[in-house]
Amino acid sequence: MAESTERTKQIRRIGITTGGGDCPGLNAVIRAVVLRAEAAGVEVIGIEDGFAGLLEGGSVGTQRLTPAIVAPILDRGGTILGTTNRGDPFAFPDPENPDGPTIDRSGEVIRRAQELGLDLVITVGGDGTQRIGYGLHERGLPVIGVPKTIDNDLAATLETFGFGTAVQVVVDALDRLRTTAESHDRIMLLEVMGRDAGWIALHSGMAGGADVILLPEIPYTPEHVAAALRRRIRSGHHFALIVVAEGAAAAGKGAATKQVAGATGGRHAPILGGAGHRAATEIAELLPDLEYRVTVLGHIQRGGTPIAYDRLLASRLGVEAVEAALRGEHGVLVASYPPDIRTVPLAEAVNHVRKVDPDSQLVRHARGLGIAFGDAPA
Ligand code: F6P
Repeated sequence: MAESTERTKQIRRIGITTGGGDCPGLNAVIRAVVLRAEAAGVEVIGIEDGFAGLLEGGSVGTQRLTPAIVAPILDRGGTILGTTNRGDPFAFPDPENPDGPTIDRSGEVIRRAQELGLDLVITVGGDGTQRIGYGLHERGLPVIGVPKTIDNDLAATLETFGFGTAVQVVVDALDRLRTTAESHDRIMLLEVMGRDAGWIALHSGMAGGADVILLPEIPYTPEHVAAALRRRIRSGHHFALIVVAEGAAAAGKGAATKQVAGATGGRHAPILGGAGHRAATEIAELLPDLEYRVTVLGHIQRGGTPIAYDRLLASRLGVEAVEAALRGEHGVLVASYPPDIRTVPLAEAVNHVRKVDPDSQLVRHARGLGIAFGDAPA
């Protein structure tokens, strides 16, 4: 869009915040927002640690972001603004009574944004952050959301940055596990992230040559997993790779959870963990003569350098967020519908999870590769 047609008069200063779990590509969004905004004569203020930087009495605040500051961050994992999944201003823990009811500090966030002269806030985050952004938008603060999650499960967008990097990390792990599994004739289980949706497990399992993939969307039975392993052994292979999404569970069971020292909960309480070990135990009861090892990849999937595709996607989302603001849009999410980035109402992005469809072509293709999901044969 030509500079002269941009509605730069209304937008002079925008805020940007990153909320929820971090994800490779967040810094690429921040950089893109700053570069595009500066080109249009718009100042960018970075809000630290989600919305905490707009709350009084905290240890974090805001910082002016310039092209010089963002120049070196395109390839850097994490977020230079910091993040948290415990800072919901609508349900903030009461410091006087941490175990009691939460308090609503959203009015304070809106007041502070106005004091700072922010014409709009770009909220980069997953479902929780977009829900907060939508709430602030409903209360009068202009907001544009940028979707983010390694889990790739946000509604209203077909893909999220960080997912590709996480899948690559898992595929690298599978490549390494295969050689040691083969040497020792072992069944290797790899537990990966994917709380409500099994996109990471499915994509990485297909790209990494898994024999079995266990997803939250397809409840398994240990009997069917054992049958798949028996078939593999009968065909002359004495090792196997099983990818287990952290939210996967045997039919009739809930997701496996764990206690983490020092974790006070938050959006993700309870913390998931243990699905891999639990599946290994269930399968070993049926096939006790095989040897099992479990690897839990955990936050390794969330850290480090974003792959090229995630940098590209993140950068495009950042540019489009600013351009949408310049067009006078707000209350929207910039969403990826390849080959385009579009804006969709923020309301569509909250409270829905985009899950793997067990009847999809993707799952059918996985089955076509001989991958078992631990469910009954069709
Ligand atoms: O939502 C992304 C995610 O990576 C989930 O897959 C996982 O359950 C969760 O974050 C872990 O969050 P935390 O950083 O709070 O441990």
